[in-house]
Amino acid sequence: MPPFFSALLLSVLATAGVAASVQRPVPNYDETKVRPYVLPDPLVTNDGTPVRDAATWQTRRRPELLEHFAREVYGRTPAGRPEKMHWAVTSVDRAALGGKAVRKEITVWFTDKKDGPQMHLLVYQPAGAAGRHAPWPTFLGLNYFGNNCVNSDPGIALSPAWMRTAPEQKIVDNRATEGTRGAHASRWNVETVIAHGYATATVYYGDLCEDRDAGLTRDVGALFRTGAVDERRPDEWGAIGIWAWGLSRAMDVLAEDPEIDARRVALHGHSRLGKTALWAGAQDERFAFVISNDSGCGGAKLSRREYGQTVEDINIAFPFWFSRSFRAYNRRVEALPVDQHELIALCAPRPVYVASAEEDQWADPRGEFLGVKGAEPVYRLFGRGGLGVAEFPAVNHPVQGEALAYHMRTGKHDITAYDWAQYLDFADRVFKR
Ligand code: GCU
Repeated sequence: MPPFFSALLLSVLATAGVAASVQRPVPNYDETKVRPYVLPDPLVTNDGTPVRDAATWQTRRRPELLEHFAREVYGRTPAGRPEKMHWAVTSVDRAALGGKAVRKEITVWFTDKKDGPQMHLLVYQPAGAAGRHAPWPTFLGLNYFGNNCVNSDPGIALSPAWMRTAPEQKIVDNRATEGTRGAHASRWNVETVIAHGYATATVYYGDLCEDRDAGLTRDVGALFRTGAVDERRPDEWGAIGIWAWGLSRAMDVLAEDPEIDARRVALHGHSRLGKTALWAGAQDERFAFVISNDSGCGGAKLSRREYGQTVEDINIAFPFWFSRSFRAYNRRVEALPVDQHELIALCAPRPVYVASAEEDQWADPRGEFLGVKGAEPVYRLFGRGGLGVAEFPAVNHPVQGEALAYHMRTGKHDITAYDWAQYLDFADRVFKR
């Protein structure tokens, strides 16, 4: 057993909600200690047949890989939207953000009951100007502290939902306060996105599943009778699966809004929500472009690379994020039938942008880059080029191919104006604007 596994961390992240007795592995940050590994080949079917064309990928290999990820990693997602799901626009302001944007708020009820599970979708779209008009290509992503956190706009309804403890974001007694308004404005860059001619849409992830063990048996989890974290069937979904499902339900709504260009919806997510964006994008081909920002372990980072956070660590720290079956690989990742390059590949031929931050070694920037590299053969099957580089690029040197893109910027675990500038640039190209 490598030394970093045998040494143990006695203190655990308070936010992880882990009992102090649970011991997490000490992360490795030494490149020379990364043991050699062999990645599963996305272009070989379960029975060993090589996949040589896009049609075979689409009809045979893609379903096989989706099945592996559902059964062994994220758990199974119920198909389609609930029969009684319905929604209503609850507010519209056509002169929001100083007249530059239209703001819409939409409540989506997942059953016929108005007090049942529901989510609140916030949409900003450009107010329109000469030559620029609806339908708008759109960025869609989940947020961490209620829709009110994405901008200080006082017109956004303050979320009454349970939230994680976060004094910096002015969460008091697990609720958003007036001080939470705009707490993540720098991560959303709403004004910039609007000025660039895109709409931006968001839902609070806790509307779907609270980010704690108990979340699994509430809200959407309860709707689908999800078992408690340790009582689930091995392949039952976890929080990431539920959040991803919610993104598809948001897409259902956007697809029926004539002001939104549903064929050009870019899905994005940071960190745990970057993992979620990739899983949602892999499953739901209506998403035209997928962005993973610092998604790390269980996201774009290769699970087999023992650097930064490992599968074992994430399953100990966040046992409710993934399926119970994923835990079986804690100390034998080499036995996983898939690795995360194949999650990226499931988005092919749709564009994927993976971004890392230099100081976010926990997420393993190189492992995220290698996740993208590993997806290239599938993109080539569709006649789309790869990243266009063989080596890990220098910091602040984005590499953007036809459909795959990667950068590592300076700084910490976050989404910044720099990240958005690259995403907008790449979106302009892949959306041909
Ligand atoms: C923790 C967790 C990561 C996750 C991150 C986040 O650091 O271990 O896997 O990506 O939180 O969501 O901010």
